[in-house]
Amino acid sequence: MTRHFLRDDDLTPAEQAEILDLALELKRDRFQTQPLAGPQTVAVIFDKSSTRTRLSFAVGIADLGGSPLIITTANSQLGGKETASDTARVMERQVAAIVWRTYAQSGLEEMANGTTVPVINALSDDFHPCQLLADLLTIREHRGELAGLTLTFLGDGACNMAQSYLLAGATAGMHVRIASPAEYSPNGQVVADADAIATKTGGSVTLYTDPLEAVAGADVVVTDTWVSMGKEEEKAARLSELGQYRVDEDLMALAKPDAHFLHCLPADRGFEVAAEVIDGPQSIIWDEAENRLHAQKALLVWLLQKNAA
Ligand code: CP
Ligand code: NVA
Repeated sequence: MTRHFLRDDDLTPAEQAEILDLALELKRDRFQTQPLAGPQTVAVIFDKSSTRTRLSFAVGIADLGGSPLIITTANSQLGGKETASDTARVMERQVAAIVWRTYAQSGLEEMANGTTVPVINALSDDFHPCQLLADLLTIREHRGELAGLTLTFLGDGACNMAQSYLLAGATAGMHVRIASPAEYSPNGQVVADADAIATKTGGSVTLYTDPLEAVAGADVVVTDTWVSMGKEEEKAARLSELGQYRVDEDLMALAKPDAHFLHCLPADRGFEVAAEVIDGPQSIIWDEAENRLHAQKALLVWLLQKNAA
C-alpha cells in the first residue's frame, strides 16, 4: 500500500518524530541526500494561491536532486475538466510524487486512491499538515521536547490550521487548546480523532470560547487569518465576529513569560494579530516559514523510502 500524507494523523507519533529528526539533520546539512537525482520530477499542483508552499516545495525538490513541475489548475485539465484519479493515473508514470493544494479533502483522497505514487496535501479546506510539520520543528528548536507543552490556537477554530494543530499536536503529545466562538468550532469528528490520539500520547485537546482562559499559561500562542482562501464572501462577518480573539500584547501577557508566537502566514496585521506581537521578540515566524523547506524535504525523503521498501 502506498503511503500518502493527506492529514496529520497519517503519521504515528514515532513516524512524526522520525520525520522531525530527519528535518533537523537536513537543515544542518542541506544537500546530504539526493533521492530524486536523475532528476526525477515531482508535480506540485495549485488550485489556490501560494507563496511559501510553492517556494519551499520547488526549492526542496531541487535540493533533493529532483525537478519540480509547478502546475496551476486554471491552466490544466483538473478543476472540473478531468477527475483527480484520471490525472493521477497519467502522472504516476512520469513523476515520483504528487503535491496538491486544493479545496475539498475528498479530492485528495480520490487522487491518493487512484495512484501508486505518494500524494501530499499542500493545504485543503480541512488540513494543512505540511505547515504543521514545519511548526512542530520550529517549536522543537526553540523549546526542546514537544510532549507536555501547551499550545493555544485562537481565531477561526474550524480552519485548516486549527484542525491540523488538533491532530498533529495530539500526535506530538501536546496540550492543544482551541479558542473560537462556538460557530467557528473545529469539526466534531476531528476533535474526537485528536482526543483519541491524545489519550495514547499523554496530550490533550480542549475547546474554549474565552480567549483569556485559553491562553493562560500557554507555551506557544498561534493564530491564522480570519478569512481563509474560499471564505472571502464571509469576510465582513468574520472580521466582526472574531475580533475578541486578536492576539495582542495584553493577550500574550497572559501566556508564559517566555511563550513563543507562531503564524503560518500570510498575516493581516491589526486583525488576527497585532503588529507588536507578530513583529515582536516572542515571534518566531521567520524560522517557521524557513522550516517549511526542511520539514517537507524530510517528508519527501521519508515517503520515497517507505514506498520503495
Ligand atoms: N503558509 C502557507 O502555506 O503559505 P502560502 O499560502 O504562501 O503557501
Ligand atoms: N487558513 C489559511 C492558511 C493559509 C496558508 C487559508 O486556508 O487560507
